[in-house]
Amino acid sequence: MVDSDFVQQDFQHRLRMVPPQGIGLSVDVYSPDLFELVNRLRERGLELGYLEVFKATTTALTAVRRAVPDMALAYHGEGLWITQPDVQESPFFEKDVDEMVTQLNSIQSLWLNHECATKQMAGYSFGTYVPPLYTRLSAEVVAANIATVQQAMDRHARRADGTVPLFLLEMPPLTYFSAGTISIPHFFRLVTTLVPCGLVLDIGHLWTVYRYTAACRRTSLDRFVREFLDEFPLERVVEIHVAGLACHELVGEPKVGEGLPEWIDAHAAPIPSILFNMLEQVLAHSNLVSLRAVALEVDTKPIAMIVEEYAATVRRFSPLVQQTMSRGAGVEQLIGLRPRSASVEKPMCQSYRQQLRNDYARYAQIISGQAPITGPEWQDVAAEEATGVTRYHTSYVPYEILHWGGDLTEMFPHTCRTLAERGISLTEFVAFWFQSPRPLTHSYDFFLLKIERFLEFVTERVPDVRGCVLEECGMLRQAYAQVNELEEPVMEMERTR
Ligand SMILES: [Fe+2]
Repeated sequence: MVDSDFVQQDFQHRLRMVPPQGIGLSVDVYSPDLFELVNRLRERGLELGYLEVFKATTTALTAVRRAVPDMALAYHGEGLWITQPDVQESPFFEKDVDEMVTQLNSIQSLWLNHECATKQMAGYSFGTYVPPLYTRLSAEVVAANIATVQQAMDRHARRADGTVPLFLLEMPPLTYFSAGTISIPHFFRLVTTLVPCGLVLDIGHLWTVYRYTAACRRTSLDRFVREFLDEFPLERVVEIHVAGLACHELVGEPKVGEGLPEWIDAHAAPIPSILFNMLEQVLAHSNLVSLRAVALEVDTKPIAMIVEEYAATVRRFSPLVQQTMSRGAGVEQLIGLRPRSASVEKPMCQSYRQQLRNDYARYAQIISGQAPITGPEWQDVAAEEATGVTRYHTSYVPYEILHWGGDLTEMFPHTCRTLAERGISLTEFVAFWFQSPRPLTHSYDFFLLKIERFLEFVTERVPDVRGCVLEECGMLRQAYAQVNELEEPVMEMERTR
């Protein structure tokens, strides 16, 4: 049995190493230009509480650290697929964890924030976050994987003052559907009873939970938030995110009287005012006792819009955020307790992990449209939610494969023209992408995966065009390696095939 009291005490000890930051921004180094953004904020007399920076090259992150030496920085990780039962067996897991630790150290990060989501499961790859299966077994696996990552941070990640960054788990957005056998807040409660991590509550993600579960047909948003917060382990929330929402360009905004929009997570889009009302509701909740920071998540957003949104947020929320952050001070009475090595006490038996592997294989096939919607995780799915899965695999996923993170016709202009002349539609590539699971050949990188899979597709469908696609692959890889400081072996792989 896990001693949940001890886990909670361990969390409290770790939390004391994270000072309050106030209101800041969660950003990307490249888009928009981070240095220009900081300057524009300063010109307006706006001070940032802190910056949370998304994973980038270590060189770029080090440059950020140097450019803002006095600014508190935090790290938004990517690519550690902690929802997956076999992630620790991946040949790239250790390397990915090492890189994450190096990057934490390079910016002297307060924490590691990572989505409770994946882009790869059971040999299938996606371009954007897929939420976990919300089941008990899945929660146990998430906790065990977090414990392993936190142990690596305990051993190797250090700030100059000797403190260790804390693992924060972010509740991911829903994109039209949810699957599981337990409620989402209960899932996170299970995780936090097993491992001393903190949480990130993203208000926009919370809105998508309302929109893409039965909640929006059952109750009001206000009541949904109240009930959700009562069940969610709010006492573990260390950071809150607020980001834009928008309809996918293939879906469009609803007409008047059509009901709730089909918004999804969209960081470039304006933040809807409804999210700030939800933020107020969250900040007022008495269980929010560990809050250290609130960030607008603004990667890919125009600088002028960021400045306006940040100014308005500081004006409206500064006193409330300060008040909420001080709320926890009286609760920390566990002085002197040393953190133990973060671990889930009972190692998970292999048959459970295998069962979850099978569950995720079925999940990947269902959401990519390769298999019908069956299994206990979908039992409560109403007709409307089944429509959500259909929208996901008929519109969202094809768009991801064909356009998102690299438009195929721009990446491979000559090859695509030749395929069109031969009457081969690019939509066939989507079916090819999901036709069978495949082993990982490198750490997750959607752009490189597109290159690899497109080469295979063309080689199989039109072998005489292989020369043309190989040439375009070579140019893409070379340019990409230069920008991303990749090593030569990534480029070498295909030459030997
Ligand atoms: Fe977020």
